Amino acid sequence: MNIQLLEKLRQAAPDWVSSEQLRQPSGVSRAAISKQIKGLQVVGYEIESSPRKGYRLLRDPDSLQSEVMLPFLAGTRFAKGPFVFKEVVASTNDDCRQLAAQGVGEGAVVLAEVQEQGRGRRGRRWHGRAGDCLQFSVLLRPPIAARDATLIPLLAATSVARALKKAGVDGVEIKWPNDVLIDGRKLCGVLCEMSVDMEGIQYAMLGIGLNVNTPGEQFPAELRDIACSLASTSGIRWQRGELLVAILKELDAQIDLAWRGQFQQILDDWRASAVTLGKNIEVLMPNGERLKGVAEDVNDQGALLLRDASGKVQALHSGEVSLMAANAEE
Ligand code: BTN
Repeated sequence: MNIQLLEKLRQAAPDWVSSEQLRQPSGVSRAAISKQIKGLQVVGYEIESSPRKGYRLLRDPDSLQSEVMLPFLAGTRFAKGPFVFKEVVASTNDDCRQLAAQGVGEGAVVLAEVQEQGRGRRGRRWHGRAGDCLQFSVLLRPPIAARDATLIPLLAATSVARALKKAGVDGVEIKWPNDVLIDGRKLCGVLCEMSVDMEGIQYAMLGIGLNVNTPGEQFPAELRDIACSLASTSGIRWQRGELLVAILKELDAQIDLAWRGQFQQILDDWRASAVTLGKNIEVLMPNGERLKGVAEDVNDQGALLLRDASGKVQALHSGEVSLMAANAEE
């Protein structure tokens, strides 16, 4: 599929684009244009054609199918696929794990409209509204030491934040380690699951759930005050395909840095969006313990450095952070 063709139709919609305009700059034949238009129609794009006027886009389904997405990912580790689009899965992380077990290499993507068993961190469920979210997992084969793995979810959140900022989204922040927030409400979550043995990390499934067009009132009552979507905060609908491509491109660049050992650049990018640092926080540890203190910084592996009231600094590799009320008064 020719990605410029879809872009031209989108920019002109609902107006017509002549087939001559679509043929440029490469000068492809009219027959080739007609074939590409049919390819788009097959995946749900409603395109009207006229022998005199050319073509116009009547309905843009914002398709996330591989035929549409893969050409946009040229030059990234995600371009060679597989790029698996499914209507319904249990969890995209599970499908991604199956690919890993079959020996599939780094860069595979599994994306679903509906997850029947979507997982969040700490054993919670993840609910994404069908058609309104991005829910996907990428398969990684990290050549880094297992002790540096904390960095992987941080780089994912950084990639999402960078992509959203470049797309013009205001107020994007990251809560350690990898929640992406706007105005203190969660917009995006990351679940990184790994297979590690004596030789190191065999593979990682990096699962990302982003609320894109979910109307505010459609969040379950218990989430309404703590979750948000791009549409609920900006009042406009966003094109999921464009965001997905932007995120995967950022992810590709951040992974390149990580696999080359350039952790500091990733951490500096993460710090640039961090809402947690310098704040009074409480951390709910995996064992149920609650630690209080000031979030001083992250260390070279992305672990959170928490200074308690006695001045002792502890490096935390996991845990659920809440900002304390004291910060709100500042
Ligand atoms: C969290 O913030 O608790 C993490 C949420 C992660 C959700 C994503 S959606 C795609 C992938 N598949 C899952 O089952 N979970 C992750």
